[in-house]
Amino acid sequence: MNLLEEYMNQLKSIDNKIIVKPYSPNLGGVVTGIDLSKEISNSELDFIKDAFNQYQVLFFQNQSEIPPNLQVKLGKSFGPLHVHPAAPTMEGHPEIFEIHTHKNSKISNGTENFHSDVSCDEYPPLGTMLQLHILPECGGDTMFVNMYAAYETLSKPMKEFLGSLNAWHESEHIYKGRYSERGVSDKDILCPSALHPIIRTHPETKKKALFVNRSFTTRIEGLLKNESDSLLKFLFDHSEQIDFQIRYRWNKNDMAFWDNRCALHKAIWDYHPMERKGRRVTIKGDRPN
Ligand code: SIN
Repeated sequence: MNLLEEYMNQLKSIDNKIIVKPYSPNLGGVVTGIDLSKEISNSELDFIKDAFNQYQVLFFQNQSEIPPNLQVKLGKSFGPLHVHPAAPTMEGHPEIFEIHTHKNSKISNGTENFHSDVSCDEYPPLGTMLQLHILPECGGDTMFVNMYAAYETLSKPMKEFLGSLNAWHESEHIYKGRYSERGVSDKDILCPSALHPIIRTHPETKKKALFVNRSFTTRIEGLLKNESDSLLKFLFDHSEQIDFQIRYRWNKNDMAFWDNRCALHKAIWDYHPMERKGRRVTIKGDRPN
């Protein structure tokens, strides 16, 4: 098979209408030919589920603003929605996290480091759907990392060693005071923590992924502090290497849908004082195993 045939083989479509193309050979798929601001059909939903498992992150392009109730409905077609323990939510829609940064913002929306959303929860989110309606003139890209690749490229003895270990994911150091400028008091937030396996098996694809991240993962159970710190540093550096990454430049009203079980992400905070605004829904996941 030549390269073009190989590429065409990776394209998927329903009736040549909805189509997904690889964003990079590494991860990500660009989906066009579907209007998420309207109800979608069961076959479109099946198509999205299939593509989501294959590409880890989907970028829906050529969209108009999705009404909040439809974004909630779309999220719920993947499972019950997760309510963020600390972030500001949309009035009347506790499941919607409003992403908004502007000239008075002191920090970005998410955490500065690569992370899997709210991995500190006992049942961390399966996936996150973020649509951005207002973009800075430049900047504000989001980066993603393929955590299957991070696992697969480890040596066999390292995979075996990590397979026996669990790590704590904590959040107080991130959430405390984080959203105070958005009117959320520390009295009203939760700071969950949870112990998760370092290697998890994706419940749909059955593939193994490394499941640690620089934002939330604080220590490896059973190791001495200096052992845990050194091993975590190695794992963070290993997973964030450039070969496993993509960087997405947003168009107005694009919606990204990422799989928190096998991908990390990081929003680039390089556009202050310009504005960036959107809405995100997050779907509850299983207990990692
Ligand atoms: C997040 O880190 O969850 C937000 C991602 C973004 O704003 O691009």
